[in-house]
Amino acid sequence: SDKKYDPYRPSSHTFDLLTRDAKILCQELKPKPEEETRKLALLKKLSDIAREVFGEAEVLPFGSSGNGLALANADMDVCVFLNTKPGSEEVSPVEFVERIGDRLEKDADFENILQLKRARVPIVKLNHVNGIACDIGYQNDLAIWNTRMLRAYCKIDERVRDIVVIIKLWAKRRKINNPYTGSLSSYAYVLLVIHVLQKRGVLPNLQAIVTGNGSIPFWPCQGFNRYFFEDIPNLMRYWQPTPEALSQSVGELLYEFFRYYASEFRYANQVVSIRSGGLLTKEAKEWTKDFTQAQQQQQQQQQQQPPQQPSESSTETDSQVETPPPADAKPVVKNRYLFCIEDPFELDHNVGRPVDRYSLFTIRGEFMRAAKILSRNGDGAIPRLCTERE
Ligand code: CTP
Ligand code: MG
Repeated sequence: SDKKYDPYRPSSHTFDLLTRDAKILCQELKPKPEEETRKLALLKKLSDIAREVFGEAEVLPFGSSGNGLALANADMDVCVFLNTKPGSEEVSPVEFVERIGDRLEKDADFENILQLKRARVPIVKLNHVNGIACDIGYQNDLAIWNTRMLRAYCKIDERVRDIVVIIKLWAKRRKINNPYTGSLSSYAYVLLVIHVLQKRGVLPNLQAIVTGNGSIPFWPCQGFNRYFFEDIPNLMRYWQPTPEALSQSVGELLYEFFRYYASEFRYANQVVSIRSGGLLTKEAKEWTKDFTQAQQQQQQQQQQQPPQQPSESSTETDSQVETPPPADAKPVVKNRYLFCIEDPFELDHNVGRPVDRYSLFTIRGEFMRAAKILSRNGDGAIPRLCTERE
């Protein structure tokens, strides 16, 4: 289907201009070494505090501060792991948030401390006086592993970072990068990018590369398989990009990304799945119960039973459940399958879950706007693509 005739396809001259401007912008958006230094200092400080509160503790960065995909001034995501001694009491996520949150309150270096205890994944949010905003999570192994996998995908080809950085900036400026308000997390956009690059032969499926003779290993983590091929320096023994994939520029791949989600991807029944290297159907994943049906079911259940406790089994870090909906908002529904993006490890998790009918309309509109801008005149298209909305 990549070979389909595209009447809007830009000329190679346009692609060259897009590539040039995208690379310049990416360079500008790189965090300065000074920012890395501040983040490291904050990480050290948080480790000291975690040890003080819990004894043995390890604090690991994840998300963009761990995967090489950060824009300048990005937030820092960290996760605390406790080595509870055998026989001693486990610390629950809520207790963790309370204890570390209360300790942080006593430190003048931290401001705007929020304890999100009722979120599906409880976290503490704060700002450090050195200017860094930080989310502190707890025992989230899968987030560490998916961060490592994204980092591995970036190491394969330098075009990946360039494309992701432009897409992240575009999504932030167009105000469609907020899972709290129905749009997508940066993590979701990165999965969307990897899917397109896999389709075009630019990236392999790291979860399907097997080095021995046999089947895909099972490396259990929170009940899921966290296996992926991580030995990127030796990747070429198992996989090579096609000559065509090698020849595609950043500009061309950016255009293809937007064109794909503007006009090729079928939102009604397809699921983006980088874990399977392509597309799945909603039927196959049993992700068919739509928004209104789920709502109806919930309402029916509520009439018959007392309300149930929300589950805390997810590794999700976008804690949209905690945020009070605006007065005119629809009731919160847990599973929405309007924009289906399978988490590469937590296979029953739709990373596009925050998207509702209204935000889907907005996001698709933005894909179309972007494809249109890039297909016209390359000159000035990248800055225009990333102009602030409203
Ligand atoms: N994450 C996840 N599941 C989600 C959302 C996020 O596991 N539904 C984890 C991933 O490990 C991801 C990290 O949380 O790498 C941070 O997510 P996010 O902040 O969306 O991505 P960043 O790359 O940190 O982007 P930004 O720089 O915009 O913060
Ligand atoms: Mg982040």
